[in-house]
Amino acid sequence: MAERTLVLIKPDAVRRGLIGEIVARLERKGLTIDAMTLRTMDVTLADQHYAEHVERDFYPPLREFMTGGPLVSLIVSGDEAVSVVRTLIGATDGRKAAPGSIRGDLSLSNRENLVHASDSPDSAKREIALWFPDFAN
Ligand code: PPS
Repeated sequence: MAERTLVLIKPDAVRRGLIGEIVARLERKGLTIDAMTLRTMDVTLADQHYAEHVERDFYPPLREFMTGGPLVSLIVSGDEAVSVVRTLIGATDGRKAAPGSIRGDLSLSNRENLVHASDSPDSAKREIALWFPDFAN
């Protein structure tokens, strides 16, 4: 079933010049880019976006990293887009992610892991409303 998901091309990927590579992988899969913006996340949005992680030990450095430079936010749509994009990006830790996935091919870190994608249709709805209020439904 066609659905939408929220993707962030994280600051490490922008710094490394990987925006085009990552967007190309999404497009080549057959997914559609419905919206795309370059912006820097502020701490208020970070705390909302990562609401379920704000108490975790890893959150302060994660927040510093995610607010430390521009990132690209996208709405990506297609058949089962939420799970398809999670498979394309690979496991959280780039050192363990499968070869062929974005993180498996391009990352060696569980913080600087290039891409965020919503982990469920409910998360996608919540995250799209946060990042693209005009697209919320
Ligand atoms: S969990 O425990 O399964 O809920 O967490 P997970 O989905 O694997 O990770 C959630 C996000 O936190 C980031 N993360 C970290 N950042 C910094 N340091 C450490 N150790 C760390 N572990 C996990 C991870 O990259 C996930 O970011 P997003 O943006 O959701 O991909």
